[in-house]
Amino acid sequence: MRALIYLTFLFLIFKNGSAQDVYEEAFNEEVLKFIKLCDVCTCSEIHDMDGTDLVLYVQCSEFDRIDNFADLDKIAWPLNPNGLKISATFDGLGLSTLGKLPPNSQVETLKFTNNAIKTYWPDPFSDVPNLKILSFSHNELTEITPDLFTKIEGLEDLDLSHNKLTDFNPLDFKHLRHIKKLSLNSNNLKKIPLDALQPMTALEDLDLSKNGIFDLLLQRSDVENLARLKRLNLNDNRIRSITKDSFPANNSLELLDLSNNIIEIVEEESFLTCTNLRELNLAQNNITLVFALPPSLQIAMLKVNTLYHWPKFPSGIKYIDLSYNRLSDLYDEKTVNFDSLEVLNIGGNQIKELNIEKKLPNLYILDLSYNLITEIPKTISTQFFPKLEELHFDGNPIETVYFKNIVAVKSLYMTEMRLLRVVDEKAFSNVVGRQADEIEGDDSVNCFSLYLSNCPSLSEIKAGAFDGTSLCMLDISKNNLTYLPKSLVDWTAVSEGVNLQFNPWICNCDMQWIVDELLPQMYATKHSRLLAELRCGSPRAFEGLRLVHWYNWTERAMCGDNSRTMHGNYMLEPSRELGLSYSPLTLILGAAIIVSLLIAIALAVYLVKTRKRYRVRRAAMKRKRQSATDITNGNKEQFTTLNTSKV
Ligand SMILES: *[C@@H]1O[C@H](CO)[C@@H](O)[C@H](O)[C@H]1NC(C)=O
Ligand SMILES: *[C@@H]1O[C@H](CO)[C@@H](O)[C@H](O)[C@H]1NC(C)=O
Ligand SMILES: *[C@@H]1O[C@H](CO)[C@@H](O)[C@H](O)[C@H]1NC(C)=O
Ligand SMILES: *[C@@H]1O[C@H](CO)[C@@H](O)[C@H](O)[C@H]1NC(C)=O
Repeated sequence: MRALIYLTFLFLIFKNGSAQDVYEEAFNEEVLKFIKLCDVCTCSEIHDMDGTDLVLYVQCSEFDRIDNFADLDKIAWPLNPNGLKISATFDGLGLSTLGKLPPNSQVETLKFTNNAIKTYWPDPFSDVPNLKILSFSHNELTEITPDLFTKIEGLEDLDLSHNKLTDFNPLDFKHLRHIKKLSLNSNNLKKIPLDALQPMTALEDLDLSKNGIFDLLLQRSDVENLARLKRLNLNDNRIRSITKDSFPANNSLELLDLSNNIIEIVEEESFLTCTNLRELNLAQNNITLVFALPPSLQIAMLKVNTLYHWPKFPSGIKYIDLSYNRLSDLYDEKTVNFDSLEVLNIGGNQIKELNIEKKLPNLYILDLSYNLITEIPKTISTQFFPKLEELHFDGNPIETVYFKNIVAVKSLYMTEMRLLRVVDEKAFSNVVGRQADEIEGDDSVNCFSLYLSNCPSLSEIKAGAFDGTSLCMLDISKNNLTYLPKSLVDWTAVSEGVNLQFNPWICNCDMQWIVDELLPQMYATKHSRLLAELRCGSPRAFEGLRLVHWYNWTERAMCGDNSRTMHGNYMLEPSRELGLSYSPLTLILGAAIIVSLLIAIALAVYLVKTRKRYRVRRAAMKRKRQSATDITNGNKEQFTTLNTSKV
């Protein structure tokens, strides 16, 4: 409230006349009051990003309702007896104009994020000369002028992202010689503003993503700038081609993101001037032909393009993502050196085989998913992949799983294999867990996690499929399985959960062990969420019923004769205590009990009045029992239908 009263004094209308006139008019107004920031906003002393120095942090947000008639020129900076650096954020206040901020030499960070700033008074920061970080992110700026930055020569980090900037004049940034980081992403730029950037000789980090830039041309004889630029982000623009003039000679670029453009042509030698480049992202373009990569490259993101051949990767390469291209062959072992390679993703191609003769000594992730592989290649072995941890075979046309050679992994992914019907004896016997380095000597961690789900035809896993190996986690959900052999694995060792959900399990005596042994274990190890959709597919009487219905039953529910079991005591269903959802049965029963109780109470009251107390109470109890049984029996059919339809 107090803030509002102060603010009414500050109502300034920006009509005709220069900003200066308005300013003077305001001065001549009756009383001049200042908004004490710490009265209307949140002030706190916190550690800065490095955690070393204390900073006086001022946060004014929409909740503080400094309405949009304040230009912030009448704010009073907080008293700062300890001389701390001040970081102030004015977020979401609906500001449309920024006034000239009052003097303070402690202010180092100013953020005007999420406002509607379109205009500003001349030289707004000329009295906060030690400003280092300035953000106008998410505003309505359509252009800027050099006087936005007067007297803040020390500025290092400028964020103009998410505005409506279309172009810059060559002198716009003339004062900003010490900028290291500039964010211009999410504006309407059509080209890289090379001339305007020229004064920024210290620039290391430039974000131009999400603009409409169509031309990548950083090499210009008259421009000696951008020599220090290390990180350039051009993600999500309209760039069509990369040429040998795109990058200046001897540049410092280490990270270059050109993903999500429409690049079709990359001239063979385009990147060779980028002698310091470590990470290149060309994902989601339309690149068909290969090009040369600089020898310094370590990370190559080339996914979702139309490459038919492997580019020639330098020998230091660590990370290759060539997924979703048109590769039909593996790399040529004679011409590459993959000794440093750690991650290789060639999913989503047309590769049929993995015939290699040289090992990949440092590879720990190999993704071969969604290719045309019909059987587990015999090269999948510790011999060729001694450090493998994660192996992906999802979506391949594999009919028979059999690992011919010993391979150690932490996780094995084999989901969406449409042709897989049966997993045979010993299929996974040669897959062993990779021992976690830190717990060496502990045998129990020598297990692997298997994701074998979403295989619509998979209807059988033979009892010996995991003979001689051990699992930490087993996901066989969303298959067509009806029976799970108890001897499949040592279930007590599967410490990270067993997901059996969404399979048409036959709930007969052969599966009783799941209720008796697996369910209690899963509750004990806090994996009960994996039981929500663990349901019977048959026999008919149990269709759609969740296996947890039988949890803690004294009798062996799946073994008895069906009709008797169905009349069992439903009160034993534990779903409530276990935080699972109420079944229709619980609700019907609850209603039945309440109705019976009401009838009983009404009767009792009535009968007490007629003084036939003892005889009558007995009658009421009898009646209550009778009606509960009636309702249960009457609703049995309906309940079965309900449960089935929920599957
Ligand atoms: C690039 O740098 C190397 C040495 O650092 C130098 O010999 C060469 O002349 C430079 N090339 C250009 C075009 O500046
Ligand atoms: C990329 O190339 C494919 C065919 O090669 C074409 O259908 C598609 O339209 C191209 N995309 C763009 C954005 O040019
Ligand atoms: C799932 O198994 C049943 C027999 O248990 C079979 O009739 C059905 O065709 C199988 N579904 C698929 C997609 O293979
Ligand atoms: C199931 O039975 C066990 C042992 O008899 C008991 O500790 C546990 O609390 C019971 N769980 C529920 C949900 O009733």
